[in-house]
Order: sequence, then C-alpha cells, then structure tokens
Amino acid sequence: MAQVSLRKVVKAYEGGVQAVKGIDLEIADHEFVVLVGPSGCGKSTTLRMIAGLEEITGGDIAIGGTVVNDIPPRDRDIAMVFQNYALYPHMSVYDNMAFGLTLRKFPKAEIDKRVKEAARILDITPLLERKPKALSGGQRQRVAMGRAIVRDPKVFLFDEPLSNLDAKLRVQMRTEIKKVHQTVKTTTIYVTHDQVEAMTLADRVVVMNHGVIEQVGPPQVLYHTPATRFVAGFIGSPAMNFIPARLEEASGALRLHLPGGMSVDIPEARTARYRSYAGKDVVFGIRPEHLTDDKPTDKTNPAPMILTPEVIEPMGMETLAHFKLEGAELTARLDPATPAEVGQPLRLIAHMDQMHLIDPTTDKVI
Ligand SMILES: Nc1ncnc2c1ncn2[C@@H]1O[C@H](COP(=O)(O)OP(=O)(O)OP(=O)(O)O)[C@@H](O)[C@H]1O
Ligand SMILES: [Mg+2]
Repeated sequence: MAQVSLRKVVKAYEGGVQAVKGIDLEIADHEFVVLVGPSGCGKSTTLRMIAGLEEITGGDIAIGGTVVNDIPPRDRDIAMVFQNYALYPHMSVYDNMAFGLTLRKFPKAEIDKRVKEAARILDITPLLERKPKALSGGQRQRVAMGRAIVRDPKVFLFDEPLSNLDAKLRVQMRTEIKKVHQTVKTTTIYVTHDQVEAMTLADRVVVMNHGVIEQVGPPQVLYHTPATRFVAGFIGSPAMNFIPARLEEASGALRLHLPGGMSVDIPEARTARYRSYAGKDVVFGIRPEHLTDDKPTDKTNPAPMILTPEVIEPMGMETLAHFKLEGAELTARLDPATPAEVGQPLRLIAHMDQMHLIDPTTDKVI
C-alpha cells in the first residue's frame, strides 16, 4: 500500500491539446480519492498517467515515495479496473482471477489462497467454476474487481467501472466497492463523471474542469463550502440555483436585490464577509433544498420569495418545483404535501444561512 503524489503534472497530446494542465495532488495511504468532472476534463488522462499507460509531458508522479515517471506500468504495482473489463470468455471465474498471478509465476497454493479470499470478500465463491457468459453484469464487474484484488497492489485505479451497469445495479455495486475498500484498505483512485458516485464513495473528492483541479476536499466540505461557481453547480443534485443579484447596504445591513423586484436580507453573520461587495453585481447561489415551502405558521420568514411554478414533479419523498426568474431557471425541493400549483404564485423561504455569494467576474465563491 502506498501514498500517491502528483506534482505539477502536465499532459499535452499531439496537436497541442493540454488535457492536464499542471495538477498537484497528494493522496494518502489507504485513502479513497475520486476524480470527478465533466466529459473531457482530463480524469482518464490523469488516471492513465498514474498507471503508466500514458507518458507524462511534465511534472512528477510518485507512488510510495518513488518517482515512477520512467517505470513501466507492469512494474508500478497498481491494478486498474476499466469500464470495459473484458474477461476471458473461455476461462472460468477462478481462472480469470488467477490469470495475472499465474503469468507472474506465483506458487499455486498462494494463487488459490488469494483467489478464494477475493471471492469471499466479493461474495462470488459459488460462481468460481462458471464462465463469464453465465454471469450477470454485476457479477462480471465483481470478477473484474477480483482480478484487481488478488494482485494485492499498492494502488487500485478505477475508471468509470460501473457505467455499463443499469441504475439499480450501479447503486448496489457502489456499496460493494465501498465495503471492499473498508476491508482491504488499498489506496484507491476512482474516476467518474457522476457526482453522486463521487460523494458517496470518496474520502476526498477532486473536482476537475478543463484539465485543472477546481477543488479538493471531503464530500461534505465541497457541498457546504464550494470554492468556485463550477464546484457549487457540479456538486449536489438537483444543482444549485444561481440568480443574478445586486448587493446593497442600508444602515449597516446588507440586502440582496433579485430580479422581479424581490429582495432578501443577508444574515448578520455574513455581513463582514460580504461588505466589500456592497453596491456591486453578484450571483446569489441557493440550493434547491434550501428553497422550501414557507410555513404559514412561521411569521418570521426572513427571506420570502414569491415564485410561480412552471413545472411540478412529485418524487414521493419530496416534490420538485421549477420556476423561471427573468432568465434564471430555479428549482425548489418542496414538502410532498406542498400546496404548490402550476401557474399559482407560491411563497417560498430561502434559508439564507445556507446561501452562497459568487463574484461574477472571477466565478469564485465569496
Ligand atoms: N489520445 C489522445 N489524443 C489527443 N487528445 C486526446 C487523447 N486522449 C484524450 N484526449 C483529449 O484530452 C482531453 C481529456 O480527455 P480524458 O479522456 O482525460 O477526459 P475524461 O475526463 O476522462 O472524459 P470522459 O468523462 O468523457 O471519459 C479531451 O479533450 C480529449 O479529447
Ligand atoms: Mg474518461
């Protein structure tokens, strides 16, 4: 097992595309780190450089304290699981898992011990004699993970390993992967474009965008204190609402003026932080879960917003309502018993202690 360090790592492909633009990242021993970001942001490229499948253009990558820039993939002691985890169709599950160790001339008894232990961890012991074609998608995915586990590598690398599975199985396998990591504790770097997968699996999430790291942190930290508009919008589902606004100061208090003539008070605890933006245009960020039904019993609602739903989506445990506010598309998460009706103005409460303010010129969260 090992820590992994990326220092100023750059990847430029032929034709000048800089897929990765000098990223720094320290991954601790035993840590589960997830790289997440939109398509083309450089996640797979980063993972493939760590694996040694892609040469690096600049910087250093170290595994367990040793710089591996010039070490070929097979000597890096890593195991990778891809989206397309082709199993050998003519081999049994047992032989698929044993194959890598056989090639490396491990003693038979050691191979047997490792395959059986991995099968136990993954709960596939009864399947060991089957051929891949007699397995479900989720079972095949487990075998692919088994192949990685038996190697007992320093680092596991996963590139979208669940994206071929249907939604239900994906959630199930996500839990399995987390369980496996809690058992074997191998340092893991996992790539996905799915922020829910990232949040649920990771000790720390690395949000990438256009070849740079936007922010690194534990899931809750990214959710509550995003550093940039991109992270604020990427983490959380449905995504955070962004409303163009203007911050005004009156007798020491700050107020946000929103489109449509509405305004909301900034909580006192935030005035010092935001004061220098008084008189300026800002972006008001509020998550759908912090925009909820106003309770008629609560006469102290500090920030009523009156919006007219265009679409209402009952989800069972909650109801989503979608609004337009002069071009901005807004979503609120309402109580399933909400009185909201399409076309009828609705009083909402904005939970301002959970608000964010973004500088529109830098896209940084203030
Ligand atoms: N072999 C290559 N030659 C040239 N450009 C490439 C090559 N491989 C990837 N790229 C470019 O590098 C950028 C990053 O690609 P990468 O595969 O790392 O993205 P990704 O974040 O994994 O995206 P996805 O979620 O779609 O898998 C993209 O703009 C891509 O077009
Ligand atoms: Mg990719």
